[in-house]
Amino acid sequence: MTYDWQQEFAETFGEKVKFNVSMKDYTTFYAGGNAWGMVFPAGVEDIKEVSALCRKWKMDFLPIGHGSNILCTDSGYNGIIINLAKDYRGFRWEEREGRYVVRAEAGAALTQMIRVIGAEGIGGLEFACGIPGTMGGAVSGNAGAFGDSIMEHVSSLEILKKTGEVVCLDKGSMNYGYRYTELEKGAVVISAEMILDAVNPEEFNKSAERFIKERRMKQPSEPYTAGSIFKNPEGDSAGRLIDAAGLKGVSVGGAVVSMKHANFIVNCGNASARDILELINIMHDKVFAETGVSLEPEIKIIGKGL
Ligand code: EPU
Repeated sequence: MTYDWQQEFAETFGEKVKFNVSMKDYTTFYAGGNAWGMVFPAGVEDIKEVSALCRKWKMDFLPIGHGSNILCTDSGYNGIIINLAKDYRGFRWEEREGRYVVRAEAGAALTQMIRVIGAEGIGGLEFACGIPGTMGGAVSGNAGAFGDSIMEHVSSLEILKKTGEVVCLDKGSMNYGYRYTELEKGAVVISAEMILDAVNPEEFNKSAERFIKERRMKQPSEPYTAGSIFKNPEGDSAGRLIDAAGLKGVSVGGAVVSMKHANFIVNCGNASARDILELINIMHDKVFAETGVSLEPEIKIIGKGL
């Protein structure tokens, strides 16, 4: 038998790698086919190693957190998923000149981290309470809500470049905006540093609860969704446009446009990625036909057969 990539990944990562992994189990949409492999790095060295082995074997790789903004096609992903949310999720903070510097590993759970630091009297990210997902995912797509976004609070990012080099990027040198952060192709966010302010923990709680309540009022609470499907077009709301196109409740297979917020698709339990993709096309095309607005997906669609 010839020595192959699978053998080398198994020897290098031992229990930290799994093969032929269903993306259903690693995305909040609960849909999609299998990835060739999934590595659960415990540190930067592991992440570097995955990227080096993928280069060596000429395989694609993709970092993920909680998979809360991803749809993988039913044909699966031909490559290695780097799952950062399991064992690369630490965060720490220190006081500096009356403010706080918080450094979070890419797999840190965003809402959980915000709550922990809030209880310690560190605030500023209350708006993001309730955003599912990890720090790496949040900075990669500049996640936001209620007029604020994560990159407003970030001071620098540590990035693993495609070449294998780890660099620290100052926010001032980066382009970012509504739901995007420009990163080099193939780059992996390793960690983010934020500068935050002192807050009274009681005030923090009140404000966090207010944001969570508002989110619950407007957005579906079913488990199998991936947040907003489309970005808001300039000056309007994708949800409003899809709603006005009469699409709430429309379904394809097990995928349905949420009755609560039209920019959300809910997987009622047995939707295939194909069902979800078909519904996304229907939403896009009907809004386009009625308004001339071409909505741009916010979720990341990955996998074969696109
Ligand atoms: N609207 C409708 N019908 C709907 C949904 C919304 O008419 O089904 C109307 C609302 O009445 C309101 C307007 O559209 O007048 C805007 O709705 P909403 O306040 O719910 O905000 P949004 O623009 O739909 C954005 C973000 C959310 C974020 C909320 C809260 C995007 C694509 N969406 O939603 O972010 O939580 O604001 O600030 O930017 C996400 O990015 O995944 C996400 C959930």
